[in-house]
Amino acid sequence: MRAFRGEFLSVSRDPRSDPEAVRHEADGLLVVEDGVVIARGVYAELAGRHADVPVEMLPGLVVPGFVDSHIHYPQTDRIASHGEQLLDWLERHIFPAEKAFASKAHADAVAAFFLDELLKNGTTSALVYPTVHEQSVDALFEAALERNMRVISGKVLMDLGPEGLNDTLASGRAASEALIHRWRGRGRLGYAVTPRFALASTDAQLADAGALLAEHPEVLMHTHLAENLRECAEVAARFTEAADYLDAYDRFGLVTGRSVFAHGVHLPDRACQRLHESGAGIAVCPASNLFLGSGFFDFGQADRHGVRLGLGTDVGAGTTFSLLHTQGIAYQAALMKGMALDPFRALWLATAGSAVLLHIDDRVGSLEVGQEADFVVLDPQATPLLARRTQGADLATRLFALQVLGDDRAVARTYLLGQCAWNRDTP
Ligand code: GUN
Ligand code: ZN
Repeated sequence: MRAFRGEFLSVSRDPRSDPEAVRHEADGLLVVEDGVVIARGVYAELAGRHADVPVEMLPGLVVPGFVDSHIHYPQTDRIASHGEQLLDWLERHIFPAEKAFASKAHADAVAAFFLDELLKNGTTSALVYPTVHEQSVDALFEAALERNMRVISGKVLMDLGPEGLNDTLASGRAASEALIHRWRGRGRLGYAVTPRFALASTDAQLADAGALLAEHPEVLMHTHLAENLRECAEVAARFTEAADYLDAYDRFGLVTGRSVFAHGVHLPDRACQRLHESGAGIAVCPASNLFLGSGFFDFGQADRHGVRLGLGTDVGAGTTFSLLHTQGIAYQAALMKGMALDPFRALWLATAGSAVLLHIDDRVGSLEVGQEADFVVLDPQATPLLARRTQGADLATRLFALQVLGDDRAVARTYLLGQCAWNRDTP
């Protein structure tokens, strides 16, 4: 058993509908046993009851570990690739890079760097795209298991992919089933059926992905949706029977309460309504949407329909591994559509909101009693500018400054299951 003393902040539910969801202890105590939170509260009220437990001081603002609801590990080395929007960017920069993951050794090396980079940025859980190669999933899961991180992933299905980066209906199904069986119940890992996007799979493979999802009630479904206008036009041209992009997936059983769709920048109201009814959600990726010139996610529209939302970086189209900084970009993107995103809501999107999307909110996301002790120590004085801006400021101002001005430099420490997994001062 061990205890941590410091300033704690968490947002367990969407504060837009429930302002009580914000929980803050200026001087708090968090007691952890076997990696799980067994008590949390005001230090002065709780300390007496746990007097025999050793206490570690946490320097900074402690928030739940970030949950990245959409990121691609094989694109780590192609972040910041110049000059194209989605479909051309994929062809020119991304597909060549992903072909290299046919090598397990290459996949191992990138997975190790990728997960360490997540920890350095305060991300403790993530829903991750690998590549079409079965061994790219093994590489990621092995590295996540070694670090005790909560990672959900699944072999990318793309039987219409380019030469050297495609599977077939049969090989995609066989590899997916093998991976589900091989990794079931191990560590903090989970599986997601992952058709790349509607344009990369035949109707037969999309239908098979829907069948696989139905056969395995414990797995998620993860794909891209309505990100880019040219992509949307190509989907409309191919799926002429579908009411809209989401409906193209729906016809194959891919729109469920376990479905996570990245982007959703260009959606009609009908699709938002259907997302709400089904319980599916959107991983909002504002840094990526800006980088690829995709557009701005419409929070107002999503909120009118009660669509479930989380936050993703979408590296390598996303320009940062930092979900802290992505909260600041989300604010700017939302303002382009007329909404001033509340800083506590942005924090919720990056923690408990994403955890709900990933069906891991019983384990992580709000640092409540019974949850796993994954948390990040943020340093409001990480840079001279941050220190000036947060000097004497109230909680909302400090949080917002961290979101807008902060990134990995503001992550002093990251803890997994109550164990320090990253310390900026002793890297
Ligand atoms: N749509 C299909 N594949 C991808 C990808 O790798 N990145 C992004 N941002 N969108 C996609
Ligand atoms: Zn993506």
